[in-house]
Order: sequence, then C-alpha cells, then structure tokens
Amino acid sequence: MSPPTSSKLLSALEHPSGLTLKNRVVLAPLTRGRSGASRVPNDLNLAYYKARASAGLLITEGASFSQEAHGWAGSAAIETQEQVEGWKRIVDAVHAEGSLISVQLWHTGRAAHSSYKADNSLPVAPSAIAIQAEAHLADGSKVPYEVPRPLETSELPRVVADYKAAAERAKEAGFDFIEIHSANGYLLDTFLQSVSNERIDSYGGSKENRFRLIGEVLDAVTQVYPANRVGIRLSPNGVFNSMGGADNADDFTYYITRLNEYGLGWLHILDGLAFGFHEKGRPFMLLEARAVYKHPILANCGYTQETAEAAIASGNADAVAFGRPFLNNPDLVERFRSGTKLNESLPMSLWYSPGAKGYTEVPVTEEEAAE
Ligand SMILES: Cc1cc2nc3c(=O)[nH]c(=O)nc-3n(C[C@H](O)[C@H](O)[C@H](O)COP(=O)(O)O)c2cc1C
Repeated sequence: MSPPTSSKLLSALEHPSGLTLKNRVVLAPLTRGRSGASRVPNDLNLAYYKARASAGLLITEGASFSQEAHGWAGSAAIETQEQVEGWKRIVDAVHAEGSLISVQLWHTGRAAHSSYKADNSLPVAPSAIAIQAEAHLADGSKVPYEVPRPLETSELPRVVADYKAAAERAKEAGFDFIEIHSANGYLLDTFLQSVSNERIDSYGGSKENRFRLIGEVLDAVTQVYPANRVGIRLSPNGVFNSMGGADNADDFTYYITRLNEYGLGWLHILDGLAFGFHEKGRPFMLLEARAVYKHPILANCGYTQETAEAAIASGNADAVAFGRPFLNNPDLVERFRSGTKLNESLPMSLWYSPGAKGYTEVPVTEEEAAE
C-alpha cells in the first residue's frame, strides 16, 4: 500500500479517559512464554514491549493473577510483588516512548492443567466439560485437557475478589488501563457461552445469568480503576478451546448491550474469522457491535492496514488491534506509515519458545527457524 496521506489508522484517538492514543494501532495481547519459571517480567520482556511502543496502545500478554488463574508456562504474571515490580519497569519504558499500556487480566479457567497449580488441583470452570484438545505442559509435552472442577456458587465472590486484587496490583504497577480477558475460551468466556456453561444456579441457564459473573467482575474492578480505564475482550466467533454455539450471535448482542451500562474504556472484539470460526451459526459482525455499543470499539483478527483503515473510516471501530503482524514486525506502525512491505509471518515454532530468537530477535524466516 502506498504511504497513506489521510490515514485514520495513524491519526490520534482522544480517548474518553482523557488520555490520547498517538495512533489507532493497538498491540493485541500476545502470550509469548518468555518470562521463565518465576514469571516475573524481565529485561527481555521489556525490550520486546519497548520495540513495539510506536503503537498508540499496547495490551500485554494475558497475565494470570492467582494460582488458580495460571495455566501457561513462562507467561508473565501479576500475582506477586516481584512481578508488580517487573511490570513497573515495562510500564515506565512504554510511557517513555509516548505510548499507553494496558495489562490483560487472564484467568485461564479450564484451559489450565493441574500441573500448573502449586497444589496440583484441577482447573476450574463453570461446568465439568473438558476442552477437546491437548494442553501444553511446562515440560513441552502435550496431554488431553482434564475435566475441570465446576466452581461452587459460594466460591464466585472469591473469584471476583481475585480480579479486584489484581486490578489493585495493576494500578500499583502504573498501567494506564486494565483489560478483562473474556475471550478465547478462558474462564469468563466459558461462563458466557452455553457450550461450556451448564450451571443450574444463578450463573447459568439464561444469558442474563451467564453474564452475571462478568458483571460482578466489572463492578469490582471499576472500584479500583475508573470504568473508562477498563476494557473487555470478547470473541463471539472463535472455535479455539472448543468454543462457539449457534446462539452466539444473539447472546453476544445481548452481552454487548449490557456492557453499555458500564461506560468502559473499550470493547475489544475478535470480529474477524482468521483465528478460527466455530461454524455452528452465523458470524457476529463488527457492525452489529457498533449498532448497539456506544463506547470505543477495538476491532481485531485478521486485519490488514487496508481493512483496518476501512473499519475506522466506516465508524465501526475506533482503533484496530494487530497480533500476528506485530510478531515479526515490531516496527509495524512505521511500515504502515512508509508503505513498507511487511515481513513474512513469524513461524509458529517461535510463538512460545523461550529465548530471544523470534521475540526480540526478529524477523525470523521459516528457514531460519528450522536452523
Ligand atoms: C502467539 C499468540 C499468543 C496470543 N496470546 C493471547 C493472549 O494472551 N490473550 C488474548 O486475548 N489473545 C491472545 N492471542 C490472540 C491475539 O490477540 C489475536 O486475537 C489473534 O492473533 C488474531 O489477531 P491477528 O489476526 O491480528 O493476529 C494470541 C495469539 C497468538 C498468535
């Protein structure tokens, strides 16, 4: 694409929080597994985020905030004071580049594995329904997902309190925003979707009930951050982690309508189908979200510079998050600005591998990855 002369994507966004995104390119949350066994954000992580700080907003990799929430080897966490201190350095480095940063609060739910828990307890979920795929363990092996333990109704206030405590740690670390990860088949998404929620208490059954836990989490974290500093991520179309249902398009219309009540900083929606589509019903489209949602929308999934420009120009999105394009192109914004061709996709073998190769040392080609 030739250099844009009147690019909406590269124009600043005056956000309702009073903060300004210097452009509308957002780094999508990307788990990279580069924080080692301690899961304390380290120098390598700092260099990685700093290199991408030409984006107007960075959303961190999913950060777990309790033993129960943890489910991915080497993912940076926000559970301990040491981890908070590690994040502070990253937040400061990103701010020094004139960018904004949000942590993504991640409870992995049934997509965890007992081997990740200090007490070897089973992963938790709304219902005892396993993901039909294999869990990646810390030693690199893969095993079928376990049948999760359904959370007791009486435990849910504690889960909500864990989110609130995580928001407090995020505030201490200096994050501008927090994003509640409610997508991709992790805990909150499994409460929303009928395919994974067969509860018979007030957190299951109707869509009103399935929304209840998210509503309580939002009520709790907005006591810590103003609502317009809190984002939420939804994936109505995804199949990843055995998700998706024929009722999704209708249910998510309802959820997004309910989310209007909160005046959040953003709704981050994987409207594209490029990360897998469940094919059980029709896809939920970005313009449907726009039709009901009154606050900022971040669109994501499979966007290119051209389609992102179009989504913003149409008014359907306020900003667009890019995931895979950022892996091998830390300078994605500069490339968009200058019209420079993007590097080829980062080989999947380097998505989560430890070390600098394919992380801070990019680009890497398929051939180089195999060396
Ligand atoms: C390596 C990798 C790690 C990811 N980790 C996360 C994550 O931690 N949290 C999340 O919400 N989505 C995660 N995603 C999904 C991305 O944020 C994004 O939705 C997806 O890549 C589709 O956008 P894209 O087409 O721009 O890549 C991940 C995707 C990839 C490829």
